[in-house]
Formats: sequence, C-alpha cells, structure tokens
Amino acid sequence: MMKHNDTQPIIDPVCGMDLSEFKDLKTVTHAKTKRFFCGSFCKGRYEKAPERYEGEPLMKLSNIWKVFDTGTIKTEVLKGLHLHVWEGDFTVIVGPSGSGKSTTLNMVGLLDRPSSGKIYLKGKDITELDDDRRAELRSRTFGFVFQQYNLIPWLTAEENALLPLVFSTAKANEKMLKHFFGEMVLKDRMEHRPSELSGGEQQRIALLRALVNDPAILLGDEPTGNLDSITGGKILDILIDLHKVHKKTLLIVTHDLNIAKKADQVISFKDGRLVRNGTVHEKLR
Ligand SMILES: Nc1ncnc2c1ncn2[C@@H]1O[C@H](COP(=O)(O)OP(=O)(O)OP(=O)(O)O)[C@@H](O)[C@H]1O
Ligand SMILES: [Mg+2]
Repeated sequence: MMKHNDTQPIIDPVCGMDLSEFKDLKTVTHAKTKRFFCGSFCKGRYEKAPERYEGEPLMKLSNIWKVFDTGTIKTEVLKGLHLHVWEGDFTVIVGPSGSGKSTTLNMVGLLDRPSSGKIYLKGKDITELDDDRRAELRSRTFGFVFQQYNLIPWLTAEENALLPLVFSTAKANEKMLKHFFGEMVLKDRMEHRPSELSGGEQQRIALLRALVNDPAILLGDEPTGNLDSITGGKILDILIDLHKVHKKTLLIVTHDLNIAKKADQVISFKDGRLVRNGTVHEKLR
C-alpha cells in the first residue's frame, strides 16, 4: 500500500534523495542550517556551490508514487521517489531492469502522470496541469531520444527531423540546427527514408528531431542501447557538445559506462527509488 509520511523527509539538497531512514549521514552547516548528504560526492558538490543547491532545481520530483493497475494486479513501480535535476547538469540514471528508470523519465517529460506526489519545474508545481497545457509545456521544454529511434518510415530523414515543428508553436533555433546538421555529417542522407539509413544514422536523425524545438532538457532512454561502440561514441560526442557548448540539461538513462563517466552526476535506482551506493551514485571518473 502507499505510505505517506507526514513528517518532513530529510532530503539531500543535491540529488534529492530521501535520507530519512539513514543514520550515518555526512553533514554541512550552511547559513546556520544543517544539511545532510547521501555521501561524499553530493556533499562535495554542495560545498563548492551551496547557493546553487539552496535554490530551486530545474526539475524536482517529490514523493512520487506510481502504481500500474491492470485490474487484477497492482504494481507499485515508483515508491516515494525524490529526485533533483539541476539546470545545465548532465545527469545519468543507472539501475537494474525494472527499477523504474523509464517510468521516471516519463514522469519528468510529462508523458505520464504520477499516482501521487508532486513535480516541480523551476519551483512551479506542474503536477496538476491539464492535458493541453502539459502538451504545450512538453513540446517547448523537452526533447526525447529513445533506444528505438521511432522514426516515421514514410518520411525522409529531414522530414522526420523537422516533424516536431509541425505540432508546435515553438520556433526552431536555426543556428543550432545548422550546427548539428553539419556536426552529424548527414547532409547527403537527408532525402533517405529510415529503412535506407544505418542504426547510428537513424539515431542521429532522432537526436536532431529531439533538438529541433531547442528544448531546455534532453531526456534519453538508452540512446546508445542499439548501437555498436563506435557509433555510440558519436552519439556521446554530440551529447557532450550539447551539454558543454549549448548548455543543455541532459537526463540520460543508460547502461553505457562511457556515458556515465562523462556525467556531472550519476544517480542509481533500485526498486522505484534512489539508492545510496558509494560506487555508482557518484561520478565514475
Ligand atoms: N504500463 C504498465 N503497466 C504495468 N506495469 C508496468 C507498466 N509500465 C511499466 N511497468 C512495470 O514497471 C516496472 C518498471 O518499469 P520501467 O520500464 O520503469 O523499468 P526500467 O528501470 O526502465 O527497466 P529497463 O532497464 O529494463 O528498461 C517494470 O516491472 C514494468 O513491468
Ligand atoms: Mg527502461
């Protein structure tokens, strides 16, 4: 059953993890307030920029429960999840199959609604927005890249990449698009249909499509999962460029250690919540 805790949880201000059940926590006192941390990595980040982490995260998930009800079986997938995503951060989510990573991305990207809990964007509660407002916010704020490229087979590469503009009032960031069209070395493939493209080329088109609305946040679910390591490396290079040069916020679910190594923060999931894990819930460098 759902548990709702009436007492204030103890939240790691950096990753957002609920620390209420732990005793041996690292602490920092800032502006006369004692803050608790899941481990030395989050503590270290906080100490470098306490004002940042006392502000509002770009996205905050607070006590999120997600129960899938098939009529006969109820599956609790997210069980009181707390998570912070900071503007401009490259955050990687790792965790075992079934731990709720994709479900969480769907919550963050407003593709699904939580059973209970709150979702904040820049401090504003967006949990209860109606479907139209959600759709508008989604198309303005998020770009999505999935393991399956999900390109439309009868459209050309270029038409696929530009598709979001058909559904949105958002304007393309022409300069950035030109840069990425060049960067992805796909100029001579833009008239091809997806079936005439390699997996890596299809994924680059999917990335272009995700970027066409110039979203603040790029969400990726195993974006290199179907690619060999060299092709995956090209996708990673683009992600790094997006993060470093274009200052995008990236939230990427991946098993790919090469990606995790480049992240500002690695969050590990287990059983529908963040877990404290000295080796992975940290930067892997
Ligand atoms: N629509 C649904 N109805 C019922 N159960 C669901 C639904 N979507 C997901 N689940 C269940 O929720 C659990 C978490 O799924 P989720 O896809 O979030 O896991 P994941 O961490 O992304 O796993 P993987 O690494 O395999 O992609 C799984 O046990 C899955 O079966
Ligand atoms: Mg998944």
